[in-house]
Amino acid sequence: MAKLLIANWKANPENLTEARRLARNTDSVRVVIAPPFPFLETVGNTIKKADLGSQDVFWSSGAYTGAVSVSQLKKLRVKYVIVGHSERRRHFNESNETVNRKLKAVIDAGMKVVLCVGEGPEYRRNLSGARTFVNHQLKSALKGASAKNLIVAYEPVWAIGTGSPDSPEHAAEMAAEIKNTVGRLSSQKDVPVLYGGSVTFRNAARFLSLPEISGALVGGASLDSREFRKIIRLVL
Ligand code: 13P
Repeated sequence: MAKLLIANWKANPENLTEARRLARNTDSVRVVIAPPFPFLETVGNTIKKADLGSQDVFWSSGAYTGAVSVSQLKKLRVKYVIVGHSERRRHFNESNETVNRKLKAVIDAGMKVVLCVGEGPEYRRNLSGARTFVNHQLKSALKGASAKNLIVAYEPVWAIGTGSPDSPEHAAEMAAEIKNTVGRLSSQKDVPVLYGGSVTFRNAARFLSLPEISGALVGGASLDSREFRKIIRLVL
C-alpha cells in the first residue's frame, strides 16, 4: 500500500513568502501539507500534487472567538484535519471530550480526520501501560463516531521534537494494537496508522518499511525542504 506523509508545520514558518516557497519545494503526491491557518489559502493555491491539511479545527461556526470551523476549512479545499495533537492537549488543555467533538465534526463534513494519540514519558518503557493509555484515548475520541475516513497518528509524546524517535519495533506493536482497538470499536477493520515523533531522513525508512505503519506525521523535518524531499523519495 502507498505510504502517506503529513507535514505538520506547527507555528512555522514566519511569513507567507517562506510558506509559499516551502510548499512549492515539497509539493508531491502522497504528501499532505498542514500549514498554520493564515497560510492555508496560499499553500492551497501553490500546491499542485500534495493535498491540504489543517492542524486543528473547531466543531461549530458562529460566536467562537479565535476558532476556525469545519465548513470554513472545507471551502479552502482542506482534505485532512489533524485533531488531538499532543501539543493541543497539553498547551491548549484539550480534553478527550473536545477531541471527540472535533473528530465527529470532521467526519460529518466528509473530510479525513487524523486522530493523534500517544502516551507520555511515564509509559516510555511500559508497553502495557502505553497500550492502556492509548486505548483509552481511542475509545474516548471515537465515542459515537462512525470512524469513517479515519487515520490514526501514533505519536509518543516523549518522541516529539526530542531527536529521540520510538524504536520501529515498539511503534509497530503500538500500531497493531491501535488497529485492533479501532477494529473492535468500529467497522473500520484496518485503520491506517502513521508514526510521528522525531522522524528524519536518517530514520524514516525504518518506520516506512513496516507493514503496520502507513506513513509518517513529520514536524521539524518537514520545514527543511531538502530533508523533506529526501523523505518524500522514500514513499514514491
Ligand atoms: P517532530 O517531527 O518535530 O518530532 O514533530 C512530530 C509531530 O508532532 C508531528 O505532528
